[in-house]
Amino acid sequence: MSSRDVAPGDDVHPGDPVVVDRYTTAARINHWITAASLVLLALSGLALFHPSLFWLTGLFGGGANTRMIHPWIGVVLFFGCCGLFLRFWRLNLWEHTDNVWLAKIRDVLSPSHEENLPEVGKYNAGQKLVFWSMSALIIVLITSGIVIWDQYFGPYFSIEQRRIAVLVHAGAAVIAICVWITHVYAAIWVRGTISAMTRGKVTGGWAWRHHRRWLKELVGGKPAR
Ligand code: HEM
Repeated sequence: MSSRDVAPGDDVHPGDPVVVDRYTTAARINHWITAASLVLLALSGLALFHPSLFWLTGLFGGGANTRMIHPWIGVVLFFGCCGLFLRFWRLNLWEHTDNVWLAKIRDVLSPSHEENLPEVGKYNAGQKLVFWSMSALIIVLITSGIVIWDQYFGPYFSIEQRRIAVLVHAGAAVIAICVWITHVYAAIWVRGTISAMTRGKVTGGWAWRHHRRWLKELVGGKPAR
């Protein structure tokens, strides 16, 4: 919990919002590098995907540059994701309450029914599904991407292998973009969430409403990660 706002003995004024630490600066930098690289990858990848989207190559200095730069942005995304994975995998481990949360998905979607839901830790089941599916998709994307990265790996793979890899790569990219849209939509839809990744803090009310078990653990002395 943010000591500035709520530590015992602090000068807290009635009416001041209680603020809770959710992410360290390092975690946020890691997250935004990953997010920026996914946006650039989607744009450069779509530019190479279909002739009707070729105009997008203008953003990267033309077709040849886009082709050269796209895999390198992929490498940045991969390492960004590795960083996020190492930071958050434990907190995304599946628990029994996640099954209960999913079974009550109707209550999740109707804000007035929130009291019917189990108390949630740092992440709910929806966030965990995004985390694990994105992690798996990034592995598929980097692996298939290496197979079709002609400039460096061309001689190591047959034409047949490269054809399959192109299909797998495009399919995984489309799914990853859908998962990413879900992630961003949820972050905007649950009001007060964006500040977690911009300022590293959320309000106590947000934490109590959406991640009550996490808030209780935090009050018990667990640091933000
Ligand atoms: C512009 C795009 C993005 C926005 C606006 C965004 C927004 C957010 C926000 C607000 C949170 C905090 C959620 C919370 O603490 O409850 C978050 C967490 C997170 N985001 Fe993003 N994000 C974006 C892109 C990405 C991308 C591209 C990835 C990975 C490929 C990613 C991976 C994560 C992870 C791993 C977390 C921690 C939550 C978890 O482990 O489930 N984000 N994001």
